[in-house]
Amino acid sequence: MRLVIFCTLLFVLSVITFTRGHKIPFPKDFVFGTATAAYQIEGAAKEDGRGPSIWDEFSHTPGKTFQGATGDVACDHYHRLEEDVKLMVDMGIKYYRMSISWSRLLPNGTIDNINQRGIDHYNKEIDILVKNGIKPFVTLYHWDLPLNLHKKYGGWLNKDASMKHFGDYADLCFKSFGDRVKNWITFNEAWCSSVLGYLNGVHAPGRCTNCKPEQGDSIKEPYLAAHSIILSHAVAVETYKKRYQQSQGGFIGMTMNSDWGEPLTDKPEDQDASERMMEFQLGWFADPIFKGDYPPVMRRQAGSLLPTFTYSEKQLLLRAKSDFFGLNHYSTAYVSARSSVSNDNDYFAHMNVSTTHEKDGKPIGVMADSPWLYVVPWGARRIVNWVYNRYRIKIYVTENGCDVPNEDKLPFDQAINDTFRVSYLHGYLNAISEAIQQDNVPVAGYFVWSFMDNYEWADGYAKRFGIHYVDYAKNNTRTAKASAKWYAELIKQ
Ligand SMILES: *[C@@H]1O[C@H](CO)[C@@H](O)[C@H](O)[C@H]1NC(C)=O
Ligand SMILES: *[C@@H]1O[C@H](CO)[C@@H](O)[C@H](O)[C@H]1NC(C)=O
Ligand SMILES: *[C@@H]1O[C@H](CO)[C@@H](O)[C@H](O)[C@H]1NC(C)=O
Ligand SMILES: *[C@@H]1O[C@H](CO)[C@@H](O)[C@H](O)[C@H]1NC(C)=O
Repeated sequence: MRLVIFCTLLFVLSVITFTRGHKIPFPKDFVFGTATAAYQIEGAAKEDGRGPSIWDEFSHTPGKTFQGATGDVACDHYHRLEEDVKLMVDMGIKYYRMSISWSRLLPNGTIDNINQRGIDHYNKEIDILVKNGIKPFVTLYHWDLPLNLHKKYGGWLNKDASMKHFGDYADLCFKSFGDRVKNWITFNEAWCSSVLGYLNGVHAPGRCTNCKPEQGDSIKEPYLAAHSIILSHAVAVETYKKRYQQSQGGFIGMTMNSDWGEPLTDKPEDQDASERMMEFQLGWFADPIFKGDYPPVMRRQAGSLLPTFTYSEKQLLLRAKSDFFGLNHYSTAYVSARSSVSNDNDYFAHMNVSTTHEKDGKPIGVMADSPWLYVVPWGARRIVNWVYNRYRIKIYVTENGCDVPNEDKLPFDQAINDTFRVSYLHGYLNAISEAIQQDNVPVAGYFVWSFMDNYEWADGYAKRFGIHYVDYAKNNTRTAKASAKWYAELIKQ
């Protein structure tokens, strides 16, 4: 019913906007925002009683991040709330996606030890935003698990502990901030937490079969971590629905990440490979939370390595209905059936596809600074269609953006004249607009990643995704790039 009303609204309220002579039509109530995450921008890692997270430990382990970079200081956002919100106001931004650092509120991750100074900090931040007419979209978990939960219970490998402690933490957030926060995102990119954290170990907690010091099991652990995260999401959603949604009037969902996988050829096996990739990437999380179980293709391929939901867990999943689909999307690759048989037995072997960014010697798009990021705007239109066809739910694009080739090495004047990023954003927003207008896909909002250059995890500070330049060597001075001005114009119109 809500969807029908939404689609009607889209139709009735559609207005044409113009930008630099190019039309990008969006519905009048479309949410234009920008996004960040706590560990990537806040710094103040040891201040006001914050406990360590798995990212503090990982980034301080030699050899794990580019040039040993950590989030100890990051963009110093913790001390610059007023200044940063003013930059948002200057742009006319009305929506801001941020995350809460779990270990600021609960230094040990557990509810028996609440850090009031952490609560005070986010109260202050949320108040500044709201006072300035900016609505926060708040992510509860953007990769920074309290270290104590990892050390003491095994973190996401421990299903029962995960559900209990994430549930307690989520409840605390709803209770403390839900009077002002009306949009909640439980998890950001659980795929990355599961695969990068437990299969190849390039993200915290840095576990894999051959990893040191955290030796894990690259075959089993990614599936176990994902399973705990899915169920923890469901606990949080159920808590919100039962105890807060009616009185607070907000919404809750999860954010998942995927490239679009374009079939390399028209051959049925490549079409199947594309579909299989999407189901392994998005369906792994979205099928359980929207349909109550893993995609059948994952069960067929992974067999008993894929955990099963008990009857009562399935009931929980079906009760805990998410209100929207959060999608982080950056790029597109060609996908085909694997030509060689793999001896591995891990997630990627089960997915069993080959990916490439070239066809007949031609690249799929221009490469950005990150080698995984090719600029392919049309892929955005296809992926939101895929999501809507499968799940029939309203979509927020909770992240989209790029780094600019060599941006970190460019002189300041050239770095802030980021025409490459402007054309990326223009292309992707145009593709999303087409999905809304021509395909009737209910995309309700879009958040540029990122509001400012920040700590890009294992890539340290060398990759810049911001629409504001941060001069780390000059007291973290912020400067609006051309893309911030362009986006501000788009929002105005
Ligand atoms: C928090 O955890 C640390 C280490 O695990 C422990 O030393 C400390 O006593 C804990 N604090 C509380 C209040 O539970
Ligand atoms: C992967 O696909 C190839 C064909 O593309 C097939 O020969 C092989 O058996 C498949 N392996 C798995 C694990 O599905
Ligand atoms: C920014 O770069 C474009 C070409 O990439 C150039 O035409 C324009 O003059 C530059 N603007 C400024 C302010 O430097
Ligand atoms: C660095 O920036 C902060 C926040 O804007 C400011 O309070 C401080 O005075 C600056 N320090 C120097 C040395 O410029």
